[in-house]
Formats: sequence, structure tokens, C-alpha cells
Amino acid sequence: MDLSDFRKEYSTKGLHREDLDADPIQLFQRWFQQATELSIPEPNAMTLSTLAPDGFPSQRTVLLKAFDQKGFTFFTNYQSRKAQHIQANPKVCLLLPWVTLERQIIIQGTAEKISTAESLKYFMTRPRESQIGAWVSNQSEVITSKKILLQKFEEIKSKFQDGEIPLPSFWGGYRVVPHTIEFWQGGPSRIHDRFLFTRMTDGSWQIDRLAP
Ligand SMILES: Cc1cc2nc3c(=O)[nH]c(=O)nc-3n(C[C@H](O)[C@H](O)[C@H](O)COP(=O)(O)O)c2cc1C
Repeated sequence: MDLSDFRKEYSTKGLHREDLDADPIQLFQRWFQQATELSIPEPNAMTLSTLAPDGFPSQRTVLLKAFDQKGFTFFTNYQSRKAQHIQANPKVCLLLPWVTLERQIIIQGTAEKISTAESLKYFMTRPRESQIGAWVSNQSEVITSKKILLQKFEEIKSKFQDGEIPLPSFWGGYRVVPHTIEFWQGGPSRIHDRFLFTRMTDGSWQIDRLAP
């Protein structure tokens, strides 16, 4: 198989300045709606990049669970590798790769923990098994076998029996407060469209077209 033959001509009509909202969150909302309507599998799956204290970047997929004017929220273990990175350096990057739509969105921002009340509200909506799962995994730690996890799952299950599963203190949401948001739309002959929104100190957004 020769990957150099994998080449797709992007066919969309492009993204024009007049298509943009002054507010990138509104444009994000529109694109997200379209991704949902076009049945993109898991349109809320995004790559989260963090920087380790030794300078190595690291990435993983997380699920976007909410977005609004305040930012983009995902949930995770507060003791995980990503959480340790965020604690040392809250500057992160998110990437939503909607390749079947010939689109990508890249968000640079600062991650901050959401309130316990907000995390609890979301935790209560999770299926019981996922709630137990949050208790079970010391995310990112080295383990000797999967058996340990399965045993712990059964222990936690019987500990809480049929009662409500409480929110673990080590689990919750992060909100990425955006500093920049880039919208990328594929075009013919590799003449793609890129618009970069940068948040100004007064809260308004500067919009620049970038070369593809
Ligand atoms: C489709 C998909 C969705 C995922 N969603 C989440 C998520 O929302 N939160 C999370 O903590 N991990 C999620 N994961 C697992 C992460 O990619 C990662 O393995 C885990 O968070 C540990 O990352 P870390 O060791 O860098 O902290 C998801 C993985 C995939 C493939």
C-alpha cells in the first residue's frame, strides 16, 4: 500500500468572510449542528494536547460535553496525566477533525476546573456503570493486570449497592477558555480557507484569514 496515493480533492464551495459570525462560538454552534445532522460519528470527539513539564507535548481523545460563551467542557480524572500537565501548565489545544466534512476546528485556550456543582450535575446524567467506572480507574497509572480493575469494579458496585453513586472528589470537568479558534474548510487545488479568531482584551474577536 502506498500512502502517497491517498489524495482527496476537496470539493466544498469554501468558507468566505461573509459566512462568518462575528462571534466564533456561534459559528462553532452552526458547524457542530451540521456535523450532527450529517451523522459524523462522535462529532464531539476531539484531540486534547497538553504540554508535560519536560516539554514533550502529549495528546489524547476526549469528548466535548458542553460549550458556550465561557468555553469548551470535557470531563476526566483530576489525577490523570493530562490533569497533572494542566496543573503545571493550563495552556492546552483542542482539535476537532471533521475530515468527512472537509473541516477542522482548532482551539487554543486555558483549561480551568469547573465547579463541583457543575461536575455533579453532569455526573448524575451518566449511566450507573460509567459512574462506577469513574471510581474504579486511577487513570494513567501503571497497573499489573486488568483483573485489578474488574475486582475494583465489583467492590465499588457492592459498596454502593442500589444507592446513588457519589461524585468522586478526583473526577470532574475542565473548561477550556478559548484564546484563539481556527476554522478550516477544504477547497479545490489545496486552496483551502482558514480563518483565525483571536480574542482581544475587550472581549471582541479579531478575524484573520490565514494562508493554507
Ligand atoms: C473516542 C474516545 C473518547 C474518549 N473520551 C474521554 C473523555 O471524555 N475523558 C477522558 O478522561 N478520557 C477519554 N478518552 C480516553 C483518553 O483518550 C485517554 O486515554 C485517557 O483520558 C487518559 O489520558 P492521559 O493519560 O493522557 O491523562 C477517550 C478515548 C476515546 C478513544
